[in-house]
Amino acid sequence: MSTPVISVENASVRLDGHMVLEDVSFQVESPAFITVVGPNGAGKTTLLKVLLGMVKPFKGSVKVLGLNPFTDYGRLRGLVGYVPQKDRVSYETPLRVSEIVLMGIVLRKSFPRVVSKDDFESVRRALAYLGMEEHWGSFFNELSGGQQRRVLIARALASDPLLLLLDEVFAGLDSESQEYLINVFKKLKERGRTIVIVEHEVDPIMELTDRILVLNRVVCAYGDPSLVLSEEKLKPIYPCLKTVEREGRRIFILGDKHA
Ligand SMILES: Nc1ncnc2c1ncn2[C@@H]1O[C@H](COP(=O)(O)OP(=O)(O)O)[C@@H](O)[C@H]1O
Ligand SMILES: [Mg+2]
Repeated sequence: MSTPVISVENASVRLDGHMVLEDVSFQVESPAFITVVGPNGAGKTTLLKVLLGMVKPFKGSVKVLGLNPFTDYGRLRGLVGYVPQKDRVSYETPLRVSEIVLMGIVLRKSFPRVVSKDDFESVRRALAYLGMEEHWGSFFNELSGGQQRRVLIARALASDPLLLLLDEVFAGLDSESQEYLINVFKKLKERGRTIVIVEHEVDPIMELTDRILVLNRVVCAYGDPSLVLSEEKLKPIYPCLKTVEREGRRIFILGDKHA
């Protein structure tokens, strides 16, 4: 049997004395598109950080591509791409798009970090994949929000990772960029890449989703969308849950626990 892409068993995380994740277990056996949903503060971002080896559970076991993210950090970082919820890097020096994407490659290299001609080719390829090649020389902070998001995804893809972790990359995106991303993710899926995406609403990525993980400190549900997306399962987590019919499909408006 091949190694599971992700294997999390009974992982619990405490931050500042608060239990943020409790006995979280789930497996991704083979390449798949996994959508993680849950209210604000549910621990979604923390879960991605656990998979990246940035947050260490005080109990449980975590394996990503057969490696331990905490002890095999160096080997894993070339295999996993990450787009944070908000890019908190403030670019005081104006950086060009190509430099931002190149950073994604350079930071994954071990010392000494020598940039090769192939690296520039990888940057070009990643930007082309996101339809941003013509912005190679543009200043990042002069792009629209949607374009910036595409550049950050290109940065995560530049080293051609097997696993891509995305934190709310659809939030506030214009519909053109949204559609562009859906097609990019479709292509990545076809190439056997695994994507774990945290989103507030499942609707835009429903067609891509193989499995949904509903998280609210604990795993509330995990499985096939048709099984997970039931009013009975979601109502306790989303008291403001609404269902609407759109183009003959039933759509869940998850809302939020604070709403
Ligand atoms: N670095 C931190 N220190 C202390 N508490 C944190 C930290 N990061 C997140 N938290 C808390 O952990 C909980 C889960 O946060 P997070 O994983 O960001 O949730 P989500 O992404 O689902 O909104 C929240 O209550 C948040 O306040
Ligand atoms: Mg979050």
